[in-house]
Amino acid sequence: MKGLQALLLVLATTAVGAGELGARRTGVSPSVAALLGQMTLEEKVGQMTQISLEVVCKGYPSVQEPLEIDMASLRRALLDYHVGSILNVGTSAHTVPRWQQIITAIQDVATKETRLRIPVIYGIDAVHGAGYTLGATLFPQHLGMAATWEPDLVRTEGEVTAYEIRACGIPWNFSPVLDIGRQPLWPRLWETFGEDPYLASVMARAYVHGLQGQTSPGILGVAACAKHYLGYSFPLTGKDRTPAWIPERMLREYFLPPFQAAVDAGVKTVMVNSSEINGIPVHSSSYYLKDLLRDELGFQGVIVSDWADIRNLHERERIASSLKEAVRVAVMAGIDMSMVPLDFTFYDHLLALVREGAVPEARIDEAVGRILQLKAELGLFVNPYPQPEGAEHFACEQHRAAALQAAQESITLLKNSANLLPLRPNIKILVTGPTAAKRSSLNGGWTITWQGDREELYPNDTPTILEAIRAVVGPERVKYVPGVEVAREIDIKAAITAARKADVVIACLGEDPYCETPGNITDLTLPEPQLRLVSALAETKVPVVVVLVEGRPRTITAIANKAAAILMAYLPGAHGGQAVADILFGRVNPSGKLPITYPKACNDLTLYDHKYSENANSFNRYDPLFPFGFGLSYTTFAYSDLVLDKSTLRRGDSLAVSVTVQNTGSRSGKEVVQLYLSDLCASVTPSVRRLKRFSKVELMPGERKTVRFVLNEKDLSFIGRDNRPTIEPGEFMVRVGDLEQSFVLQ
Ligand code: BGC
Repeated sequence: MKGLQALLLVLATTAVGAGELGARRTGVSPSVAALLGQMTLEEKVGQMTQISLEVVCKGYPSVQEPLEIDMASLRRALLDYHVGSILNVGTSAHTVPRWQQIITAIQDVATKETRLRIPVIYGIDAVHGAGYTLGATLFPQHLGMAATWEPDLVRTEGEVTAYEIRACGIPWNFSPVLDIGRQPLWPRLWETFGEDPYLASVMARAYVHGLQGQTSPGILGVAACAKHYLGYSFPLTGKDRTPAWIPERMLREYFLPPFQAAVDAGVKTVMVNSSEINGIPVHSSSYYLKDLLRDELGFQGVIVSDWADIRNLHERERIASSLKEAVRVAVMAGIDMSMVPLDFTFYDHLLALVREGAVPEARIDEAVGRILQLKAELGLFVNPYPQPEGAEHFACEQHRAAALQAAQESITLLKNSANLLPLRPNIKILVTGPTAAKRSSLNGGWTITWQGDREELYPNDTPTILEAIRAVVGPERVKYVPGVEVAREIDIKAAITAARKADVVIACLGEDPYCETPGNITDLTLPEPQLRLVSALAETKVPVVVVLVEGRPRTITAIANKAAAILMAYLPGAHGGQAVADILFGRVNPSGKLPITYPKACNDLTLYDHKYSENANSFNRYDPLFPFGFGLSYTTFAYSDLVLDKSTLRRGDSLAVSVTVQNTGSRSGKEVVQLYLSDLCASVTPSVRRLKRFSKVELMPGERKTVRFVLNEKDLSFIGRDNRPTIEPGEFMVRVGDLEQSFVLQ
């Protein structure tokens, strides 16, 4: 035992130096290697096993609320099965003190009763703030964060989230989703940073840096988890966990870059696509997991499966004839940790497979080394317990202000006829629609519960849209008639009667919360009762402002002309009600820009970076309701002086681009300067344009600023005929605002 204590001390004191944290690492530290050398096969296989919290709670297999740890089950998991990781279940949220008790109970058994005292790593989906913690700071969901076009806000979100889940004692966050949102039906679109790989890559880097920033010298904030590697977001049918068919070139051109950005940013863990690409479940593919992710991208951290997805190789995907075979296939393909999550079958099968020689122990050592290394980098060997003093700033004013600012900067003004907005505060208003009075609609999935739909569990310390409007203009000026639920009429006539007495109608439309597969839809069109409500309201001639609270662009073309103004709020989080009111009444000048294309027709899903053939004539057009990158302001901006420092580039040169943007209106505002590049001729059909740089600038009325960007050779490359990055000489066009300048690459 003495020797063991000395070893743990070594682990504690040599826990990875600060400078190494963000960098790519090869192998494991000597202290981790020494620990690994002491472990039995059973202990190692246990480290690769992740179970769900409910398995060690009273009442399991049914879930009892409030969750209470069952010490006998916990001991069975940790002492008999040597389980190394536990993940959260989505049935309820806890207070910080309750979380601290749960984590303490788990770590007590892990570090006081197991032979080698290896702490458990607990993982959670805190995807827009600490969503499973009562009273946590809740940011917009990531589609909204992308709409801010402000990586600093995303970095702050990462920092705040890391702080607030660390306060609970949780060191691992299953975030960010780096799937590219190019299939708007997909029910997880709102978890993505949108349709563009460059925008998503910039946000990925910012989030990973924020989340993994150091809490104290040498200790990571929390581990990020880049998911769901790879190709998960592009199911052919749009339905969650169904097949994607993605040619290698497209995979590398659009879907791989954000994962590369996260790996380059030092992301510690990666979660695997639950589904398949071209008939190959990703959990079974050593090509995707080893050749591409490890050898090419250079990822050194832990690869965790998604929920039950090793079992799914047998039961759902049917590429393994037994569960045991599924375990063999997945572990040999490169999965280091199995989110089993509801039993110990993975442990039993893997143990048997190693004993039979079907899985080499070296493969187990490789996986367990990575897991222990992660625990060391997170400081768990130093102290696996929640730190009471680490909760002082939980949901503090500063954190909440950051979430409010993110919501304000995300909201995107899509239409504003006759400058109806901003509204004056002394008018009579009808507020209507299914998302006006619900906090759950603002937050969406992964909030309090998995589906985020338990309205009664939401704290009322932040306003709904209705409450925020009432607070601005006074309750006596605001009438609320819901009119419809999301997909069912309540009483449209009552809404019409109320509209006739109002100066303006604010119709809050959109979706109820959903998460993952339960959010599947068969029609992108906004449900018909909501369209009917707005059409009927428009007949009154009272101007209608449509506020969209939704996780994907439900098509609204039938009412777009009838609405005087349209605000896209995405899923703006807990402060979204306030942020919507701030924009409606001009306390904040809108500055969000769409990170997705907003389609006009539900079958016309052409994206902004389409090919020339897709916008070639009146039959094939990029003709969305609102294009990617679009968003209005209460002021106006003018672009001038687009200057390239060279008109001819040689290989290896960089290109400096400058452009001047001026606020030509009468109030201050923020503008997202977007630089697009077009390759005018290439051996693989080029896109009409690709986003290459952006910068959000704030300008006072009349003020002008010159924004500078530098493009490098990589920005001119594309995935060529051989599926490798390719650079070809020829003419390129740089576009910023309404300006363009060409250059030639020799
Ligand atoms: C989701 C993941 C999530 C995991 C754990 C899965 O169903 O696909 O995104 O991290 O559950 O909650």
